[in-house]
Amino acid sequence: MDSNTRPESMERITTKELADKFIEDKVAEVRAQVGDKKVLLALSGGVDSSVVAALLIKAIGKQLVCVHVNHGLMRKGESEQVIEVFKNGLDANLIYVDASDRFLDLLKDVDEPETKRKIIGGEFIKVFDEEARKLEGISFLAQGTIYPDILESDGVKAHHNVGGLPEDMQFELVEPVKLLFKDEVRVVGNALGLPESMVDRQPFPGPVLGVRCTGAITRDRLAALRESDAILREEFDTAGLTKQVWQFFTVVTDFRSTGVRNGKRVFDWPVIIRAVNTVDAMSATVPELDRNVLKKITDRILAEVPGVCRVLYDLSPKSPATIEWE
Ligand code: XMP
Repeated sequence: MDSNTRPESMERITTKELADKFIEDKVAEVRAQVGDKKVLLALSGGVDSSVVAALLIKAIGKQLVCVHVNHGLMRKGESEQVIEVFKNGLDANLIYVDASDRFLDLLKDVDEPETKRKIIGGEFIKVFDEEARKLEGISFLAQGTIYPDILESDGVKAHHNVGGLPEDMQFELVEPVKLLFKDEVRVVGNALGLPESMVDRQPFPGPVLGVRCTGAITRDRLAALRESDAILREEFDTAGLTKQVWQFFTVVTDFRSTGVRNGKRVFDWPVIIRAVNTVDAMSATVPELDRNVLKKITDRILAEVPGVCRVLYDLSPKSPATIEWE
């Protein structure tokens, strides 16, 4: 049996005790693999890379070098949370790269969804590669590969950080959670003391806000998207919906709509609320949300987010609609 096959005898990690045992074993394994060498990790702040980072910090401390690339398409507070949890909380060796301008300049006027994704993925690799080349003495590359990646995509952590890593990086891999399913990774993350908001994070596309700011991304619509998404998340939390709804976010369209503000006609952006329940993301239903919750979110977005005059709730199931808008 190769190291990419989960042994049938492997118990599912469902409790803190089992997670603690897993962590203890992996810490010893990683120390034996790495010795006194340095390990590099692209830390997106998603569940998998965060759990790998916390596990490796426990095993090898500052021998782990984390690089967090902010591509300017992160949700509100996400990069700040990575810095807070890892640099301030766990004293990680963390390099923060704010590449927002670089990404947004490249994406200017690009409206084709696949081209947007390719630009974001390609640029991510470039930025990460540039940072890696500045470092000396790196021998290993850590990755948050999980078992479904091995089962579904030949072991390539393609979606992990908007497009994988530079192909010519000749490092030995450290992949401590590669035989775990997502729910097990979350249990391990909890046992490692990572915040719930990081461990229970919803799935999202690598380019996150890039695919929710439809058409060519502009800074003003991106700001509206970030703020409206933060309001939606806050209000779902307040209403106790965060754990009941599988995935939820806002979308800002690239067409405008007429409105009236302070007695004057405006031509502003609509914001669309998307919320879905699903088991495997192959099909999805739209939850019946309390009208008062929807009204509060609508009122807050209209009052607090500049450039928005209309809020809609998308009632379309998958299929025929997809979960994301592009
Ligand atoms: P769709 O829009 O195809 O989305 O119904 C299904 C699920 O996949 C997520 N999604 C992505 N995840 N990389 C990812 O890792 C992507 O490029 C991507 N696009 C969509 C989406 O958020 C939903 O949960």
